Amino acid sequence: MITRLVVLGGTGDLAGRYLLPGVSALFANGHLDSRFEMVCADRKGRSEEQFQQWVATQLDRHAADAPATARKATEAATRYRRADIQSSEDVARLIPGDEPVAIYLALPPALFPTAVTTLHEAGLPAGSRIVLEKPFGEDLAGAEELNRLLADLVPEQAVFRVDHFLAMTTVQNLLGSRLANRILESVWNSAHIAEVEIIWEETLTLEGRAGYYDYVGALKDMVQNHLLQLLCLIAMEPPITLSERDLRDRKVDVLRSIRPLTDADIPRRTSRGRYLAGSIGERDVPSYVEEHGVDPQRRTETFAAVELTIDSWRWSGTNFVLRSGKALGSDRKEVAVHFRPVPHIPFGHQGTAAPDVLRFGLDPECLSLELTTIGPTVNTLEPLTLTAQMHPPELPAYGRLLLDVLRGDPSLAIRADEAEQAWRVVTPILSAWSRNLVPLDEYPAGTSGPSRPIR
Ligand code: BG6
Repeated sequence: MITRLVVLGGTGDLAGRYLLPGVSALFANGHLDSRFEMVCADRKGRSEEQFQQWVATQLDRHAADAPATARKATEAATRYRRADIQSSEDVARLIPGDEPVAIYLALPPALFPTAVTTLHEAGLPAGSRIVLEKPFGEDLAGAEELNRLLADLVPEQAVFRVDHFLAMTTVQNLLGSRLANRILESVWNSAHIAEVEIIWEETLTLEGRAGYYDYVGALKDMVQNHLLQLLCLIAMEPPITLSERDLRDRKVDVLRSIRPLTDADIPRRTSRGRYLAGSIGERDVPSYVEEHGVDPQRRTETFAAVELTIDSWRWSGTNFVLRSGKALGSDRKEVAVHFRPVPHIPFGHQGTAAPDVLRFGLDPECLSLELTTIGPTVNTLEPLTLTAQMHPPELPAYGRLLLDVLRGDPSLAIRADEAEQAWRVVTPILSAWSRNLVPLDEYPAGTSGPSRPIR
């Protein structure tokens, strides 16, 4: 197990909001001991005292429930170093000795190539690992270039392209439900499933993230990575084991079998939107283009919907809808599996037999099954919903991801070819959108998004 985590961009939002609470959960659950150090580096030049103050504030805000011992251990394990990621001398100073380290690039994605090049010049001890988050490159060519740089630095097994959605309990439970039960796998195909919706609709707005989001937009922020990853887990063939190779091979098979959308398909099968001023509950929200740091000329979408087809024996004939948007009227975060209607209802019952729906709730994390059953009145049918909450996980998603990095298990990380295949799926859409083949619809904040359907 690696005991030194170096975070480049170590005093930013990602480090404070997710990595520090992740480390504190690892201490709380006995996964780390006093040998562990987390070195947070940036080029701001803070005093150790200012840094410790920042750590305390972040833990108050984002890990308020952590036990006092875990909090103390986290504070004792973290230290600050000034380093410019363009300077190989600065970066080399973060990696003393020849013990392997884990380097977390908590940096804007545009800086990944520079950081990887500097790490190469600085030299990494054998066995070191690199962690980075989406988007992996800005397009297919960018992802291929980044993958080449990473391959020169460390072996592929040591590259952790992390996606925190994959560490959520319900997402893990997609695998559990499918693979540890006989009942689902027998109907898990296009003969029984008409449509799968993979939805991340949020009431959250830009939240001051224009510096990142305005360059990316909903398609690259959510669909190209998180939602396609969920699609892989839903649609993959059962892997032989859950080892990194078996699992990732099966996920890549899914991405490779997604039919590329053509210019003729894209206006019917995709939609994009941008929010206008409105109100969400009690909250008044300014229009996206008035948010600080947004350039309206970029025409960044805050809503994206895409319908995909998988060309495979199992899935030919099932629609896969991926949809994500910000500033919507309500949160809907789930994978909904819609079964086909029954072929025939034998007894003249009143009421309709709505097709069954299996829902994997992503937030809140739950599982529900909507069925039709016999009602209390003679000859009636009525809906019945069975719902179960997931057990709270031992570790938050970032705790699990960090543990995998430190232990060296890349099964939940995205392999180089997976990242490239995911770009292959979205590239024709990005190209058609940039040529305005699909209008950028506007929707008032607090509504359900653009009104134009995707079919
Ligand atoms: C992030 C996206 O990866 O996931 C955000 O950049 C989105 O735009 C977020 O809001 C949702 O995940 P979570 O776990 O932060 O709610």
